[in-house]
Amino acid sequence: MRVEFYRHNITGEDIDNVVKVLNSIFLTNGPVTTKFEEKFSGYTGLAHTVAVSSGTAALHLAMLALGIGPGDEVITTPMTFIATATSILHAGAEPVFVDVEHDTGLLDVSKVEASITARTKAIVPVHLYGTMVDMVKLRDIADRYGLKVIEDCAHCLEGMRDGIRPGQLGDAACYSFYATKNLTCGEGGAVATNNEDVAKKIRVLRLHGMSKDAASRYSGYYEHWDMLALGWKYNMDDIHAALLIKQLDRIDEYWQRRESISRTYDETFSSLPEIKVPYVKGKSARHLYTIWVKPEVRDEVLRKLQDRGVGVAVNYRAIHNLTYFRESFGFVPGDFPIADTIGRSTISLPLYPKLRDIEIDYVIESVQASI
Ligand SMILES: Cc1ncc(COP(=O)(O)O)c(C=O)c1O
Repeated sequence: MRVEFYRHNITGEDIDNVVKVLNSIFLTNGPVTTKFEEKFSGYTGLAHTVAVSSGTAALHLAMLALGIGPGDEVITTPMTFIATATSILHAGAEPVFVDVEHDTGLLDVSKVEASITARTKAIVPVHLYGTMVDMVKLRDIADRYGLKVIEDCAHCLEGMRDGIRPGQLGDAACYSFYATKNLTCGEGGAVATNNEDVAKKIRVLRLHGMSKDAASRYSGYYEHWDMLALGWKYNMDDIHAALLIKQLDRIDEYWQRRESISRTYDETFSSLPEIKVPYVKGKSARHLYTIWVKPEVRDEVLRKLQDRGVGVAVNYRAIHNLTYFRESFGFVPGDFPIADTIGRSTISLPLYPKLRDIEIDYVIESVQASI
């Protein structure tokens, strides 16, 4: 049997929606992108959404709009995808890693205060795998030190913790619509925020710093535009937005299925002594199903699973150990020992709504046979 690591859920109605755009006059950022932004705000409950070309662009622009730049330090986790930290670097600031909790893999909020210096400007929590960081405690620390909070919500559209949803307590929430995400258009992203000023700045920065986007320049009489700031070419276009719009109606149905698959996995894996399953706090968005095995056997288990046709991934090896970060900042593995160990233990298993029951059984059987 072959069980892919991921299969997307683009349907005929999503494709029809794209075809409508292709048959229209407007291909780039226009009315469909605006419609998606409004609908996305309806889902997140956050007042403003600015759609961009990737989650990385969302993080980069959120940093810039919140005034983060050269000389600043930004606290984040080494247990994440590299884009969390590279977007800090692209803004000209320096990432400062804080180790993670041993049972969840999430940024350890109790260790954040010790890393705050006079240069700290912001904190970037990552809602890893779909479980939210303790935002109530983190917001409290940020407020006491006058820091911004930019949430990396690439894994967490549907989550909730302590009655708080992603973006509710942060200054900006950054989403990814990358190929394997819960909501996907191949490549895409968005910043969502309740702060109108931040949204306005990001709207300008995502399109070269121009005062008008294509839709407002060409719907009606031509209007002159100005360049207000040095911006980037990070806008979403209507073709990608068209792929996303109808998916939003199905997001909770898809979440239910991933939740049910995760619980089925949990039933077996939580009783196996060779495996640890990351602890879930509150409602997880169930983006990834990750198991932790002993570091000595991890690569061997990865190989055995693939030999049996089971697609796997590693989300993630701790990023402070990657060559660029080691060479640029002089990190050694022991600097963040918990992230280091988790990164050497991690295996992500297939988790998506199209996974059939017999495939779930096969993944479980394959893990049992491989550990
Ligand atoms: C935690 C995290 N942050 C940021 C990103 C960057 O998103 P994108 O690939 O859309 O640029 C990803 C995407 O893989 C991610 O998983």
